[in-house]
Amino acid sequence: MTDRNASTDSPEKRAAGIAAAKLVSPGMVVGLGTGSTVAYTIKELGRRVREEGLEILGVVTSYQSEALAIEAGIQLTTLAQHPEPDLAIDGADQIDAGLYAIKGGGAAHTREKIVSVSAKRFLVVADESKIGKQLDRTVPVEVLPFAKELAVKKLWELGGKPELRLASRKDGPVITDNGNFVLDVGFGVIGDPEALALKLSSIPGVVEHGIFSNVDEVYIGKKDGSVEVITKQA
Ligand code: A5P
Repeated sequence: MTDRNASTDSPEKRAAGIAAAKLVSPGMVVGLGTGSTVAYTIKELGRRVREEGLEILGVVTSYQSEALAIEAGIQLTTLAQHPEPDLAIDGADQIDAGLYAIKGGGAAHTREKIVSVSAKRFLVVADESKIGKQLDRTVPVEVLPFAKELAVKKLWELGGKPELRLASRKDGPVITDNGNFVLDVGFGVIGDPEALALKLSSIPGVVEHGIFSNVDEVYIGKKDGSVEVITKQA
């Protein structure tokens, strides 16, 4: 995992992250996402654990969120012990009007998808810059290193422009927490995220892609500190 998500203090992200932490009640098992926005949620949950005696269990989505949760004093569990967390909270790189999201800017989308799909409810925290009408950012695709060449070929055939994510210009590829590579794939405007998601999943060697279709609710932090809540229409 690299820290493409590292950022300086952001009032918008803080507003969304802290508002989401209010949804957590005693006894809950909570999926803890990865990135700079949900980091505010994790820190706020840690504050509630310390100051309010809140008793919760966290399921982490990366070594980054594990370190943060431990530092915050949140007791951890696993999906093996708690297969269905009550709630998962995570950031996103882009969210469209139908609440489809692109995730994986921090190369953690595989575990994030497993935890969020396992959870009863999935809440995304984001700042306004992440919201758009349609998805058009590059889609992170985690691939087995053994399958990189085949995946690149298949992604070109799908009309994508894959680029291997590098740790830095002089370093080698980013290695995920699962020991794999990430291809960032440009598709332009994604008209049908569901259809593209199916195609990406069918490529041999693709571990997981960053298109998420399971977002229930989005908390959008604004510059003035307010938070807009958008809920998926049934
Ligand atoms: C991690 O791989 C990502 O899916 C993050 O959740 C996403 O990039 C959002 O990160 P920020 O909250 O730092 O923007």
